[in-house]
Order: sequence, then C-alpha cells, then structure tokens
Amino acid sequence: MEFLNTSIGRKIVMAVTGGCMVLFTLVHLLGNSSIFVGPSGINAYAEHLHSLPLPIIMLVRLVLLAILLVHIIYGIQLTIENRSATTKNYAIKASRKATFASENMIWTGLLLFAFILFHLLQFTLRVTPGLTLTTDATGHFNVFAMVASSFSSFASVGIYAAAMVVLFLHLFHGIQSFFQTIGWNNDCTQPIITRIGSLVALVVFLGFVAIPLSIFFGILKG
Ligand code: HEM
Repeated sequence: MEFLNTSIGRKIVMAVTGGCMVLFTLVHLLGNSSIFVGPSGINAYAEHLHSLPLPIIMLVRLVLLAILLVHIIYGIQLTIENRSATTKNYAIKASRKATFASENMIWTGLLLFAFILFHLLQFTLRVTPGLTLTTDATGHFNVFAMVASSFSSFASVGIYAAAMVVLFLHLFHGIQSFFQTIGWNNDCTQPIITRIGSLVALVVFLGFVAIPLSIFFGILKG
C-alpha cells in the first residue's frame, strides 16, 4: 500500500486505470459504430446491452466510475508532485520531448471529465433538454432518435467535436506514456510506440467525431 504513495506507484496506477479506460473507449466506439447501420443497428445494440442482468450493468458502471475517479485523483496528485519537483530542483524546466499534449494532460483530463459528466446526463440519465425520447417500431427505446435529436443542434455538435479534439490530445500522449510506465519502450521500440499511440488516438477521434458530423450534415438519417 505504501508503494501506491510513491511517484512510480502513482504512475503505475495511472497507467492501469488509463489502459482500462482506453479499452472501454475502443469497445464503446465499436458499439457506437452500429449507428452507421441506421436506427435498427444502434437500437438493437443498446437493447442487447440493456438485456444484461441489472446487477451486472450496475457493477460494470460502478467499476468504471471507480477507475475514472482513481485516475483523476492520482493524476491531480502526480501533477502537483511533478510541478513542485520541477520548481524546486531545476532552474530550467526539463521539457525534453515535451509536446502540447504532454504538457497539458491535467487540463485535457479535467475537460474530458466535464465532457463525461455532460455525456452521462445526456445519454445515460437523459435529463438534458431537447432530446427525443421515444420507442421504435419494435417497441424498444429509440437510441437513434435520441442521439439524432442531440446532434441536430449546432451547439451539441460543437461540444462533441471539441471534446473529441481534447480526447485525441489526451490519448496521443497517454498511450505513449502507458508504454513508458510499464517499461516497454526503448530506443528501438519508441518510434513504433509513438506511431501506435498517434494512430489509436486518430482512429478514436475520427470514429467518434464522424457520428455527430454525419447526423448534422444529413449523411446519416433515421
Ligand atoms: C459521438 C460520440 C459518442 C456517442 C454518440 C455516444 C453515445 C452514447 C450513448 C447512446 C450512451 C448510452 C448507452 C445506453 O445507456 O444505452 C453512452 C454512454 C456512455 N458513454 Fe458515450 N458516446 C460517445 C462518446 C463517448 C466518449 C468519447 C466517451 C468517453 C471516453 C463516452 C463514455 C460513455 C460512458 C462512460 C457511458 C455510460 C455507459 C453506461 O451507461 O454504463 N462516450 N454513450
């Protein structure tokens, strides 16, 4: 337990929780891409998820929430620790290979947290105004209509597009950082890891941003 309070312990916790969230994000993107089949695709997918026993759904949600909170708390602690070490020990800021993404992980992380809260209020709790909450021809909840009603608004599309840019930046550095923490990077593997991280971040960005944009521009219709 003492180990978790050391700098490397915190980094490992960040890597493990971050890795879990990247996996969730990829699964979520894969599930959401059923929207490109049309209303029947995403509605059937959501119905399938909701047909799982409620205790299992709640357990998964609780675990995800715990992972998210631990990632945020440790992220804040690590940032404070790194900043005080930098100001105390070095006259010149050590910013070897620093990028905009790596320097702003705390801010992109906190912005993503705000987005997730908004996203949960909107599509999980369904309490934001202007949503179409109906059932489809088969009597199942019409997730497509709900998502489409949100993305008919320029403001909503703007929020999602901006959030996906922030997610791209966070993953761009986060995935590389994950491999560094678990010790898989060396001079030989570093360029490959950098490419994999950038590619995954780009696929996630393009995959998610395609949904609001294709609905807003009428490419995807109910
Ligand atoms: C265009 C992009 C996105 C769309 C259209 C979308 C759509 C949805 C929908 C429809 C739900 C409700 C599922 C249901 O209860 O049936 C949901 C839940 C959720 N989404 Fe997204 N999502 C998007 C992006 C994201 C991103 C980028 C993240 C985080 C990285 C995220 C995290 C979540 C989480 C944590 C839930 C709650 C899962 C649960 O209910 O247990 N989503 N999303």
